[in-house]
Amino acid sequence: MNSPSFPVAIITGASSGIGEATARLFAQKGYRVALAARRLERLEALAEEIRAAGGEALPLLADVTSLEDIEYMVTATLDAWGQIDVLVNNAGFGRLRWLPNLDPKKDIEAQLQVNLWGLIQTTRAVLPHMLERRSGHIINVSSVAGWVALPSYSIYNATKYGVRGFTDAMRRELRGKGVYVSGVYPGPVETEFGQHTGAKVKSLAVPRFVVLSAEDIARVIWKLTRRPRRGVIVPWYYRPLAWVEFLLPGVVDWFVGRAFRR
Ligand SMILES: NC(=O)c1ccc[n+]([C@@H]2O[C@H](COP(=O)([O-])OP(=O)(O)OC[C@H]3O[C@@H](n4cnc5c(N)ncnc54)[C@H](OP(=O)(O)O)[C@@H]3O)[C@@H](O)[C@H]2O)c1
Repeated sequence: MNSPSFPVAIITGASSGIGEATARLFAQKGYRVALAARRLERLEALAEEIRAAGGEALPLLADVTSLEDIEYMVTATLDAWGQIDVLVNNAGFGRLRWLPNLDPKKDIEAQLQVNLWGLIQTTRAVLPHMLERRSGHIINVSSVAGWVALPSYSIYNATKYGVRGFTDAMRRELRGKGVYVSGVYPGPVETEFGQHTGAKVKSLAVPRFVVLSAEDIARVIWKLTRRPRRGVIVPWYYRPLAWVEFLLPGVVDWFVGRAFRR
């Protein structure tokens, strides 16, 4: 069914965690949602759930490390609904180990490919359409790890700092062209993320009360569609960390040196 009055969002990494919660919320708010990831069965189940609730969803098997898959994701969405109003670049993962213990391909190359390369290429693929309409919003999911660097996070930090740089550059590049670019910088979130980190490094335990839910981040992303912002660090009490890292990096060096041990 083509419903021209309803906006369309592509959400990458919609098969679990933040992407899944964002897709569900956007559908509740009246968006038609294109759900992209590699685990098609999960996307189909989510699409079924959204349709049963009266929404519209398009499950798309797409690996963001493949240019062909990215092309398919964009073309299939345009074929189905004729427009893309919002792109949520969310797909990503982290392998959190000391650098010598990271596999050059599976850990280092793959993180760079998914978290940064894929996000850049997906943005590039939707842009001609948004520029032609002079309308659109690209929302990039980075992390507090895009502001504060930690031992064992080296490659993850590199990708998330990279996403922040890309987000800021694109926002400035697209100024006045009707296309907005916002960054989201979450602290710890309860998702499947932790199942893939392979973390073996002893670090400060994160108290439960600072861990957000995927739904918390989905609400932040949703609010950005109403009011684009340069970037939002969530929860708010992580914001001073970014300032301390910027103004007093020596203090952070001392602190994390004590907190992280082999
Ligand atoms: N959880 C946290 O504490 C936290 C904090 C800050 C930022 N973040 C960021 O939030 C984003 C979402 O993570 P999450 O916490 O929701 O973790 P998650 O539950 O593990 O979800 C990750 C999503 O990314 C998708 N994905 C991974 N590789 C992909 C690929 N090659 N192509 C397409 N999709 C791919 C996964 O789908 P498939 O496996 O089905 O492809 C999955 O849907 C990530 O960018 C992460 O860095 C997370």
